Parts: sequence; structure tokens; C-alpha cells
Amino acid sequence: MRHNAQLSSDFLVIGGGIAGLTFAIKAAEAGTVTVLTKAGSSEANTAYAQGGIASVWSVDDSFESHIEDTLRAGAGLCDRAAVETIVREGPEAVRELIRLGTRFTRVETGGPDDSELEYDLGQEGGHSHRRVLHAQDLTGREIMRALTEAAAARPNIRTLENHVAINLLVETATAGKPGACWGVYALDRNTHEIRKVISRATMLATGGAGKVYLYTTNPDIASGDGVAMAYRAGAAVANLEFYQFHPTCLYHPAAKSFLISEALRGEGAILKLPDGTAFMKRYHPDAELAPRDVVARAIDSEMKRRGLDFVYLDLSHRDADFIRRRFPTIFKRCLSFGYDLTKGPIPVVPAAHYMCGGVQTDLDGRSSIPRLYAAGEVAMTGLHGANRLASNSLLEAAVMGRRGFTAAREIVASGGGAPPEFPEWDPGRAIRSEERVMITQSWDEIRRLMWNYVGIVRSDRRLERALRRIEMIKDEIHSYYWDHLLDADTIELRNLAKVAELVVRSAMSRRESRGLHYNIDHPETGGPEWVHPTILQKPADQI
Ligand code: FAD
Ligand code: SIN
Repeated sequence: MRHNAQLSSDFLVIGGGIAGLTFAIKAAEAGTVTVLTKAGSSEANTAYAQGGIASVWSVDDSFESHIEDTLRAGAGLCDRAAVETIVREGPEAVRELIRLGTRFTRVETGGPDDSELEYDLGQEGGHSHRRVLHAQDLTGREIMRALTEAAAARPNIRTLENHVAINLLVETATAGKPGACWGVYALDRNTHEIRKVISRATMLATGGAGKVYLYTTNPDIASGDGVAMAYRAGAAVANLEFYQFHPTCLYHPAAKSFLISEALRGEGAILKLPDGTAFMKRYHPDAELAPRDVVARAIDSEMKRRGLDFVYLDLSHRDADFIRRRFPTIFKRCLSFGYDLTKGPIPVVPAAHYMCGGVQTDLDGRSSIPRLYAAGEVAMTGLHGANRLASNSLLEAAVMGRRGFTAAREIVASGGGAPPEFPEWDPGRAIRSEERVMITQSWDEIRRLMWNYVGIVRSDRRLERALRRIEMIKDEIHSYYWDHLLDADTIELRNLAKVAELVVRSAMSRRESRGLHYNIDHPETGGPEWVHPTILQKPADQI
């Protein structure tokens, strides 16, 4: 393993999903940009997004309505200024995606040429209007195609695939305040080299942490690296108890929690018990289109009460051609497992889906560490509060990628001195590991205990037990981490354990139930004393 290469650019972007690439494409107008992705360029949560991006688009819709829907889903914890800003800037961010080449699905309006096509708007839970722009049922893949092509066409952007950010390069804290961030140490997975990547402004856009749970809709890259790195460096992280579980993933041992988009329920799909009884009306007047936390808890409760492994989702009453046209990918994937959406119900279960909390930022993407910005799923702007409204995530990432650039450009333009000398990565007396089982065992334990004790329904005892176990596992990981040469799995495991701990500590501190956080020992939503974000930050003397 070599440790001596250094790279520099004006802007560093850690993450190449919608948030990172939106930022990078703007930043390329103002300077040189390095984008790091821990795997291949196309492997990001963004690429898996199905339903689409929520934005006020139709003349029947209004900003006020989207704002109200977002606030309602957020269960009292949204930051109104964040909601107003992000919703109002949504249409411009969507237009930018279109200008950069994204082809959202359009429908004919009966006129003679292309100008007579309008964007098709999907419906999802918690939205009082159709406002979800989509590219059939593979919206994220289309956005990624357009953004990666746009980034590749800009000579100022250098993308380094298979580079795993390890630790942020942060100056020593002074007067109780964290020092500035000047880049990151990153592992090149191909050469095993650990490089310093230096920059004047660092945008953290590492996405979510679904991998912290046993069952998740997220791809393997989602191990919460950004939250763990930022917390270790002294940044404030917030609202991590609000982990969103998507109500409907295909139940099949080989399906790896394949998502069945909420857009199916938007088009009339009904949740049913094995005997065919619909049950959502018993839980919420909006039934299948109730906010996600309500639907996921209802399914969880029916499964636990009746000892079921899954419930059913049925869209077969809709026209078969419509189903095949509107949901081609989901239709084909289900068919490959023997389920024909056009003919009958399919088995579904909830799975961990979206991290509503994250690195706390202001509305310009600034974290509490100077020169460190965050956007997308890794960030907590206040938009989602205690529960994210469907399809508001791509929206937030697109808007905040743009806003983050405006703030970062200022600091880069202002100069502000040279970066300090950071030491080369020191492997100490680390040796190559012969015992992969140490990693896989800890990994499995964390993911299983998070699923069982810190899942859709929590209790004080489960949370206490989870924290005790995580602390033990963290001790084991700590010695393994420093005794062995680093690889991507070890880096991820350390981050996963840190994020698990932060989720549990956040959940323990919220002694009420609200939005996505439900604790059977505190089942009521608390009073005004609970209407604030849950913030965790290391004391300055421990950074
Ligand atoms: P991501 O797209 O996840 O990108 C993260 C990037 O960071 C990747 O490039 C990764 O390689 C990189 N990275 C991570 N760690 C490191 C590291 N240590 N070093 C270097 N690079 C690193 N939201 C919606 O609004 N609408 C939807 O329809 C929708 N559907 C979804 C369906 C699925 C199956 C999933 C999983 C999510 C869905 N979401 C949806 C959520 C949404 O897709 C994500 O929240 C959003 O795409 C996150 O974008 P991002 O840019 O923040 O992160
Ligand atoms: C979906 O298509 O159901 C996912 C939408 C989202 O997570 O916002």
C-alpha cells in the first residue's frame, strides 16, 4: 500500500449521485473539480429511484399545496424556511435537469407535433396533487445518465471512480470551534494507494445509510460514510432517529429488497391480507396514499399480529397494457420471480429506505465545519422533518446541489490562504488481514440488531440493548481497524457502526413518538418541548 500521492482542485465533491453531480456541473463554471465515487459512476441511490421527482408543475397545483403536504408529512419537525425555499426552487431545478438532458416521460395532448406533449405527472402518498415528474419507472437511472454525460463533457471535472473517502482533512479546533476542512484522505481501490485530495471547498454528497439495516432498498454503497466522517471531524449531525422504511419491497429471497414504487399505489394498487381483505382504511382515511410512516407501520402491525411473512399489493384491476407501459421495469422484474402484476397480487414487505437526518446544514449547504458543505441524502436541511414526503428527496438534492455551489463559490473566490500541510496517511504497524470473518460477523450483527431493535417499532429496552451491543462491536472494530491495512470493507464497517450508534443515541433521546420514530414506551406525540431537531456533535475537546 502506497501513501504518497496528493491531488488538488478548487472544489472536491465526495459522491457522484444527483446532489454531487448537480454541484460539480455548476462548480465547473468556477474552477477545477474532483469528484470521488466509491464504486463505479453509476452506482448511487439516485440510479435506483423509481417514482420520480416532486415539483409544482401543473397549473392546478400550487407552491402552498406542496409546502403544506411536506409540512404535514414532517409531523411538526420541518423547518418552514427550508420547505418554502426548496419547494419554490423546485421547478427551476427540474428545468435545469431537463436542460442537462434528462428525458422525463411525456404524454400526448392530441396536438400535431412535439410541442403538444406535456410531462406526465405521477401521484404518490401524502401529495394532494399529481406533481411527480418521472421517466417511466426508472427516473433515477435517466437522471444519472444525463448528469454523468454532462459531467464527462466538462473538462474541468475529473471523476475518480473506486476512490473511497476515509477521513476528512480538518484543521485543529480552536476556541471550541471545529477547524476548516481542506479535503479528504481517500483509498484508491484499484491500486490500494491512500491519497490526500486537497481542495478549498468540499461538498459531501455521499447519500444514505440503508446498509445499516438488514433489509434495505439501497444499493451496497449506502453505508453512511458521510455522516460518520463528518461526525468524527466535529460536524453537527441531526434527526438520525428518523429512518424511513419504504412500505413495499418485493418479498422473495432472491429479489434483494427490490422496490415496488409508491407510484403503483398512486395508480390504485391496494394492500391486502392473504384472504384478500384490504386493510389500510382501518389505519388512515387516505388508505394506501397515507404518509409512508403510517403505511409501513400498518403493514408491520398486520404482519406481527397475524404472524405473516408479507402482505399483498394488488394492481391487477387496472388495464394490463397500462401496467406494462407505466411500470415496465417493475412488471418485468416481478415476472422474473414468477409474479404477474397484471394478473394478481404480489407479496410485499417494508425495508429501510431513506435517512431523513444527516449532516446539519443551513440553506446554502454549509455544515458546522468551515469549508465543508453537504447536500442530498447525507444532509439535514430541515425539509423532511420527522418523515419525508415521497419524491421530495431528488428534489432536495437537485435544489441543494445548486445552492451549495453558490456558497462554495464564494469561499473559493475569496482565496483565504493556503491549505495547511496535512501528514501523509500513516498505516503504523498495520498488517494485511487474514481474517475476513471478523468483518462479516460484525457487519451481520449490526445490521440484524438494527433491524430487530431499532426498526419500524422501538422500545426503551430494545434501544438500550442495541447501544450496549454496538459499543462492544465498535471496540472490536477499533482494534481491527488500526491493526490491519485498510480496505473498502473495513472503512465501511467502521462507518456503519458509527452511524448505528448515532441512530440509536438519537432514538434514545427522543422520548416520544413522532413521524418515523415510534417507541411503544412513549407512544404519544409530545408537546412543544419536543419540537426541535435532535442534534449530536462531539465536544470540541474530543475532535
Ligand atoms: P446517492 O445518489 O446515493 O450518491 C452517493 C454517492 O456517494 C455515490 O456516488 C457513492 O459512490 C458516493 N460515496 C458514498 N460514500 C463514499 C465514500 N466514502 N467515498 C467516495 N464516494 C462515496 N427519491 C425520490 O425523490 N424519488 C424516488 O422515486 C426515489 N426512489 C428511490 C428508490 C430506491 C430504490 C432508492 C434506494 C431510493 C429512492 N429515492 C427516491 C431516494 C433517492 O434516490 C436518494 O435519496 C437520492 O438519490 C440520493 O442522492 P444523493 O446524490 O444524495 O446520493
Ligand atoms: C418510490 O418510487 O416509491 C420511491 C419514492 C421515494 O422514495 O421518494
